[in-house]
Amino acid sequence: MNAPIAAFNSVMIKRLALSVVTGLILALPFCALSATNPPVTLKVFANKPTHPVSPLLNGVFFEDINFAADGGLYAELVQNRSFEFGPDAFYAWEKVGEPAIFSIENDRPLNSNNTNFLRLRTTQPASGVANNGFQGIAIENNSDYVFSVYARAGKVFYGKLTVKLVSSGGKLLGHGTISGLTQNWKKFTKVIHTSGADEKAKLIVTLNNPGYVDLDMISLFPKHTFRDHPNGLRPDLAQMVANIRPSFVRFPGGCIVEGKNLENRYQWKDTIGDVSVRRQNWNRWQRSVNGVTTPYFQSYGVGFFEFFQFCEDINAEPLPVLNCGMSCQYQDAELVPENQLAPYIQDALDLIDFANGPVTNTWGAKRAAMGHPAPFHLKFIGIGNEQWGEEYFKRYPLFHNAIKAKYPYIQIVTSAGPSPDGKWFDMAQEWFKKQTVDLVDEHYYKPPLWFMENVNRYDNYDRKGPKIFAGEYAAHSAYNRNNLEAALAEAAFMTGLERNSDVVSMSSYAPLFAKIGLNQWPVNLIWFNNSVAYGTPSYYVQMLFSRNRGDVLLPTETVDNRLPVQRLFVTTSRDSKAGQIILKVVNPGEQTAEAEITIEGMSKINPSGTGEIVTGLDLQDENSWVAPGHVMIKSIELSGLKPTFNYTFSPRSATVLRIGQ
Ligand code: AHR
Repeated sequence: MNAPIAAFNSVMIKRLALSVVTGLILALPFCALSATNPPVTLKVFANKPTHPVSPLLNGVFFEDINFAADGGLYAELVQNRSFEFGPDAFYAWEKVGEPAIFSIENDRPLNSNNTNFLRLRTTQPASGVANNGFQGIAIENNSDYVFSVYARAGKVFYGKLTVKLVSSGGKLLGHGTISGLTQNWKKFTKVIHTSGADEKAKLIVTLNNPGYVDLDMISLFPKHTFRDHPNGLRPDLAQMVANIRPSFVRFPGGCIVEGKNLENRYQWKDTIGDVSVRRQNWNRWQRSVNGVTTPYFQSYGVGFFEFFQFCEDINAEPLPVLNCGMSCQYQDAELVPENQLAPYIQDALDLIDFANGPVTNTWGAKRAAMGHPAPFHLKFIGIGNEQWGEEYFKRYPLFHNAIKAKYPYIQIVTSAGPSPDGKWFDMAQEWFKKQTVDLVDEHYYKPPLWFMENVNRYDNYDRKGPKIFAGEYAAHSAYNRNNLEAALAEAAFMTGLERNSDVVSMSSYAPLFAKIGLNQWPVNLIWFNNSVAYGTPSYYVQMLFSRNRGDVLLPTETVDNRLPVQRLFVTTSRDSKAGQIILKVVNPGEQTAEAEITIEGMSKINPSGTGEIVTGLDLQDENSWVAPGHVMIKSIELSGLKPTFNYTFSPRSATVLRIGQ
């Protein structure tokens, strides 16, 4: 038996058989137990809805960790396109041929936020530079790529730039030329069509004549991006998020919001406008090994405009999180004095204007100038991430009061600290008794057993208190594997979230993305490389729950007369539009579980129904490059449905049954 499940059993064996009525646990007398495995009885009260299921319950959490943005969701194929990487301005570039001068300069730069550029002088034709992308550029055959560059010629350059896409084996995959350079900075664009493919191609830019040029913002995008936006997103990764049908997207993190120090914090105003004027930042997730730092930068090519646009594209509510005048308390823990918080508070107010303001408003006009005069209808904002203690309790109200005074309709997310219990969490709970709070952000990265033991965590939360945003969670199994065991523990826990969605109004797994070999975080929802991606079992559980969320909760009585362990974790809702009952049942154990299901209060039951299941042959099952769909959602056809019917829940499974009239 799997170790965590065995441990789970040993905890549960101390308990009597359980009768669970929508979160109310009743102990049955011991004499009621049977030695064999009697079916679990599930009774759904179809005509007694208890509360609406929060329509925002299942969202996603995006952070630029694990190369999730540059080299990931952002479709830009060139790394360090503007030579701004701090430790090494040539990072990801190499010389081609023998340029006589090859240097990073900053006299008369493109703009004051983008001060570095490349100066090339050559006496030899075909000298220039090559970019290796993010450990190679994945080029597809028979496709269009949009190359662009800002260029300025020296007095003596009358030639052209040659642009080539070349495979790792040296084969030319596509090419184009740029002419008409002047002595002033000017943007040039060229569409390059490919005839050949390679996973590890290079972009090569050379001068075809002797002379000198200055180059900046050397960029290459696939022509087709998600919804074909310019400066867009990688279609396959964006579509994987869209397929979850998340009700919201939280962005841009995470710790990245806080920064290692205040200077390093995420500042949304740096991330809007033309990409060439976005002031870059180093990424606090970059690692230094033996004194050598691997550059990990934020080009901010995916900035707040792109996040809002993505939310609109996939019909998800945007939930931006802003710095509260504190850098990461685990790192430099810098504090902005309370009397100097005004610019930070103004950033929050300006963000609401940027998202929602009319085009006549300063910030609304910036949104319109980026091509979106209509508002983005922002309703939520987070202030601080994983903040704790008195310093937060002093700073937060200043933001809260200023936002509520000007925009009372905005719901504010407040941090409950980095963990779901302990001293800092308890301090926050005490503070919430004094501070008006809309939504409390709780985080838990815990072993699978914790998730199953905490299925009822929210049963007794104060219904008159703040709503809960389970803003970051993931089951971390032994050796941090993204396996079925972790996914089923999350699924069991999610039945508790849905049952309690009158108090838990939002939740999101974290982190969302990880680039294989470049990840800083071990357990993630979606893994990808430069050309393909696969979802983990947890990804399919998120999809299963999100796509099968009803609008009202139906009470469900679960009686399990078997010792020693609660076999099934259950939640039921009604999809009023479809006229269906949606039963979600998680069986994380190694045995099949028979259930006798009674639907009370439904006048007519259609004998046929549909269902979906996430399951596998082993709790250690994972998805991988070779078997990306080893654990995924499979459809079920249901027949013989009637007011009382039997159903066998597979071992190691999360099952959804849709029962209609
Ligand atoms: O999700 C990864 C990190 O975990 C987040 O940045 C942070 O909020 C949490 O500690």
